[in-house]
Amino acid sequence: MVLLAMEVASHIIGRLHKTERTTVKVWNHLVKHGERMTISERWDPSRPGHRLLDALKKEIHNRGMPSGERIREIAELCDTTAAKVRGAIGYYAELKPSDHTVRVCTGESCRARGADALIKELEDSGERVGELICAGLCACGPAVLRDETVPQCASQQGSGIQFYISQDSTSLAIGSEDIANSLLQHVTEDAALIRTGSRGLFHLEPTLEVDIEGKRHAYGPISSEEIPSILDSISKQQSHPKSLGLVEDLLKNQSRYAMHRFGETNPLDLEAMRALGAYEGLEKAKEVGSKGIIEEIKTAGLRGRGGAGFPTHFKWAAAAAEQTDLKFVVANADEGDAGTFIDRMIMEGDPHALIEGMVICAQAIGASQGKVYLRSEYPHAEIILESALKRARKEGILGEHFDIEIAIGAGSYVCGEETALLESLEGRRGEVRARPPFPTTSGLYGKPTIVNNVLTFALAAAIMRVGGQHYGSLGVESSKGTVVVQATGTLERPACFEIPFGGSIGQILDSWCGCKDVVAVQAGGPLGSVFKMQEMYDIELSFEGLANADGLLGHGGFVCYDKNFDAHKEVIGWMRFFRDESCGKCTPCRIGTQRALELIERLGGDMEKEGDRKLLTDLDDLMTSTSLCALGGLAMNPVRSTMERWPSAFGGEMQ
Ligand SMILES: Cc1cc2nc3c(=O)[nH]c(=O)nc-3n(C[C@H](O)[C@H](O)[C@H](O)COP(=O)(O)O)c2cc1C
Ligand code: SF4
Repeated sequence: MVLLAMEVASHIIGRLHKTERTTVKVWNHLVKHGERMTISERWDPSRPGHRLLDALKKEIHNRGMPSGERIREIAELCDTTAAKVRGAIGYYAELKPSDHTVRVCTGESCRARGADALIKELEDSGERVGELICAGLCACGPAVLRDETVPQCASQQGSGIQFYISQDSTSLAIGSEDIANSLLQHVTEDAALIRTGSRGLFHLEPTLEVDIEGKRHAYGPISSEEIPSILDSISKQQSHPKSLGLVEDLLKNQSRYAMHRFGETNPLDLEAMRALGAYEGLEKAKEVGSKGIIEEIKTAGLRGRGGAGFPTHFKWAAAAAEQTDLKFVVANADEGDAGTFIDRMIMEGDPHALIEGMVICAQAIGASQGKVYLRSEYPHAEIILESALKRARKEGILGEHFDIEIAIGAGSYVCGEETALLESLEGRRGEVRARPPFPTTSGLYGKPTIVNNVLTFALAAAIMRVGGQHYGSLGVESSKGTVVVQATGTLERPACFEIPFGGSIGQILDSWCGCKDVVAVQAGGPLGSVFKMQEMYDIELSFEGLANADGLLGHGGFVCYDKNFDAHKEVIGWMRFFRDESCGKCTPCRIGTQRALELIERLGGDMEKEGDRKLLTDLDDLMTSTSLCALGGLAMNPVRSTMERWPSAFGGEMQ
């Protein structure tokens, strides 16, 4: 034992002699971020931490691609090797110089809503168009990002009449800021304008809400020209053509737990949020302790909402059982599936719900460090979440015992996969790790780590507030509780709503969103299956319902396509995306996605060769059964399901 200790000590001292300067820098970094690791555990040039990616983003943005000499300097500054710096640069989409004047989202929903035509139009007008997938503005796409600075939203404090307008990114894209500015020109100084998260009923936005005798009344969708007449009707207690009635009636068919506080008040007004139940779950968590928390989550039947649907209590119990000085809680806010945006809505509309869920998890497993891995396409969410974190620190909710920092992604879909995400947090290429060991035993920097989706954390907080028994009584046998449906594409009423699991997806989509023109539906993100609309009436809205139909619930996204659905073009688009996003770690996916793309492109055209269809089926079997992660494992899902249902688009039946 003594010998072992001496060996470790001499190893450390040896390293200290070699690069004392680096050690001091690393130590300062650890102190700054409150990371309580010993130097020997953390001092690893192959794991420079996420700050390497931050440094590279700044460097490339300000000075362009670094020279060989500069790469060596950056490596030294970030306590890593030049090879690691080059590796990161070569991997991440955002570590490339870009000269676009505008960016257009080409995610599924934006494509269904005409992104391709828009890009052509912009290019024809002389714009240099960059593409991104996805901006999380799926409900109002195609999303165009020109000035990507986050606007300061207009608001006003006052004790008079209280108005509410959403400042969610989608609401802003739909025009809520014009409404806010117009309102402030027409109201008296004592009126209040409170900026909120979105209710999720996007077809009614921009919406103006007003408190009349303690009841919230809504008007929408409105234009700024309609503000005077609406104000007039309010003061005269008359009806208005844009009146939507009481907000509680608009929401009455929902069971809102994750979305409970959306639209109610300013998400950064902690007192007002507390009055609506924020941090009540944490209080209960403190009372019942680790075992009690895990039991409550188990009773609720909470399954991860990031895609795999894994029971949350299993992971938390496994990490809680680990005996070590350092554990991490990581929120997966990468939200890469185009057509989904509830994580963004939580961070913008109720960031304290995410913080609360993470603190509860930290209590359950005994963690002292938290990270939110946030996709870079969500700058608005970053600002709001950062403010909420500051406030939580000030209130002592975060601090010495457990703190959270945000790490911004660098444009990689596969970094949503939990082990690739951990690699990225360590400042490395976002390559998937082989499992076991699982993150619960060896995660971030080799320490026990819980990675959960943002929505999962928000639901955990709600469950601790309302009780596992209550939440678990909703839904169906193996999909308990609520599901947040994000329905977009060519719908009459794109929406995000929270209802209990169960019921026919077709009926739900039809009654909530109006599916008159819908021909095809992709459920569960780009890796999910594509169905004909009429099939959706026979599929239950649950993890099992979709699995039994050879589909996926994923993160709850349903992208709907009208008669313009071009099956062949979409399939090529998906496979191109998987080819581009494959992390390259395993051969079936690295090579398979490229070969599948070549085959799919040839199908049904003059270039198709004999045997191509058989080859594609074999490739499907191989990729599905031998890929290291679900990207390669599910990449053929949308291809297979689309080809089965629209064979003529591919020149006939599959073999
Ligand atoms: C290619 C790929 C991308 C993924 N992207 C995300 C993502 O953006 N957000 C997310 O929460 N989970 C994503 N996942 C699932 C995560 O690996 C992991 O299962 C999840 O974060 C666990 O949290 P949960 O149990 O709360 O769902 C992805 C998985 C794969 C294979
Ligand atoms: S399946 Fe694809 S993304 Fe997943 S590990 Fe293999 S190469 Fe990487």
